Amino acid sequence: MKPTFYVTTPIYYVNDVPHIGHAYTTVAGDVLARYKRLMGFDVYFLTGSDEHGQKVEKAATTAGETPLELADRVVKRFQALWERLGISNNDFIRTTQERHKNGVSQIFKDILDKGDIYLGEYEDWYCTPCETFWTETQITEGRCPDCNRPVEKLKEESYFFRMSKYQEQLVAHIEANPDFIQPKSKRNEIISFIKEGLRDLSVSRTTFTWGIPVPGNDRHIIYVWFDALTNYITALGYPDESGNYGRYWPVDVHLIGKDILRFHAVYWPTFLMAAGLPLPKKVFAHGWWTVEGQKMSKSLQNVVEPNMLIDKYGVDAVRYFLLREVPFGLDGDFSHTALVQRINSDLANDVGNLLSRSTAMAVKYFGGILPAAAELAEIDQSLKQKTEEMVSIVDKFIDEMAFSKALQAIWEVISAGNKYIDETAPWALAKDPAQSERLATVMYCLLESQRITQCILSAFLPATSEKALASLGWKEAVSKEGLVWGGLTAGTIITKAEALFPRIEE
Ligand code: MSP
Repeated sequence: MKPTFYVTTPIYYVNDVPHIGHAYTTVAGDVLARYKRLMGFDVYFLTGSDEHGQKVEKAATTAGETPLELADRVVKRFQALWERLGISNNDFIRTTQERHKNGVSQIFKDILDKGDIYLGEYEDWYCTPCETFWTETQITEGRCPDCNRPVEKLKEESYFFRMSKYQEQLVAHIEANPDFIQPKSKRNEIISFIKEGLRDLSVSRTTFTWGIPVPGNDRHIIYVWFDALTNYITALGYPDESGNYGRYWPVDVHLIGKDILRFHAVYWPTFLMAAGLPLPKKVFAHGWWTVEGQKMSKSLQNVVEPNMLIDKYGVDAVRYFLLREVPFGLDGDFSHTALVQRINSDLANDVGNLLSRSTAMAVKYFGGILPAAAELAEIDQSLKQKTEEMVSIVDKFIDEMAFSKALQAIWEVISAGNKYIDETAPWALAKDPAQSERLATVMYCLLESQRITQCILSAFLPATSEKALASLGWKEAVSKEGLVWGGLTAGTIITKAEALFPRIEE
């Protein structure tokens, strides 16, 4: 049986339309999912939409729609974008679906029955945009410490989750599992946050109605984060353990942005502890994108719309840029200049040029029929070895979520390929009939190195890699077995590749 791999993105709020921040996590998840599938894992890749809560209710009122009408409309934009971006999710969960609502009610009821959710009274400050409660000491001048927008005082009867009870157990878990929260800097932040003391958490509201009612008391609506986090198991059919839940839970990694780490690394694990369910293996928080040096915001009108980028630069250029430009886990800046630079140098010049040069030579010198390699010279051996080593280097970096390092390792082989052409000078070999065997070996090594590179790249640049592998005559599905040198056989038909990435003239 194949080993399983379960990866999730956050579920996106439907009160906002998709932007590059959303595309970022989703593309990262997709690369991971495609890579693990390629390596022989039984992958489940989940994304979806967060449709309940006051924030969505307010947005719907403003738009003159019901919350569900708003959700139905906006969710299509997310789904259409994921399709354009080549996202290979296995499932898309909407929190308004019955399967989700049932699972949430069930887990809430379980924790209630165990006594870790109880009815009490609440008085605190609430930030609606963040859907977060703050204590008197946390806020400054009536503003939210996270987003600096005004908070409002809320007093209401509320169900509370006994989060305080799990403080020690959670710290112990984090300390015993160094990889549980990543990157490391974020892990330390979370540990200090928990050690300041966990308070019981209000997990219901009575001030609005758009959500899942508390089982047995439908005056109360379940807190939107309790509802949302549970998507990671309701999508697997929880509480039914016989299907996907039994197969894929606990999740291998929750990919999230740094702003929602506390929910994933404190709230969610303690909910699971209370319900007696296994904890996620890893929560990885990536950084935030600014745009041309500024925070991305509607009011600044600088929100980067992914569809516009795809129209202008192509889907794989966008995927590449997002993962190559900034180490996953750090903040980064988006600019058109940086994107165009990446396209022209890394994509058009390096990978695109290498493929078109080499396939053109195979057509010119061998009529497009791949020759067999004779004995490898030192320079050929070195290209072969670099290619083979890259496969394990990439594997290690992907496991660390170091996508940009993985791409750099791939690009080292691409550069080595371009250098190999310059050094072996096939055009000179072609002039000398006595060198025909040497020329054949050079062509073979050049194309075989790219075949392996393109198989690995299929996780990052699926559309490009498909074209490249077609011109390399590789008809098999990409797989771990295919990452071994010697896959291309003599006689394979090579066709001249069109430019994979046209240069962008600004
Ligand atoms: N609905 C919640 C998540 C619930 S998960 C159980 C939510 N949704 S969101 O739509 O507001 O944000 C989703 C993700 O987008 C978050 O991971 C957030 O970090 C990410 N980003 C939003 N703006 C971003 C940038 N400018 N840059 C990078 N990621 C950003 O939170």
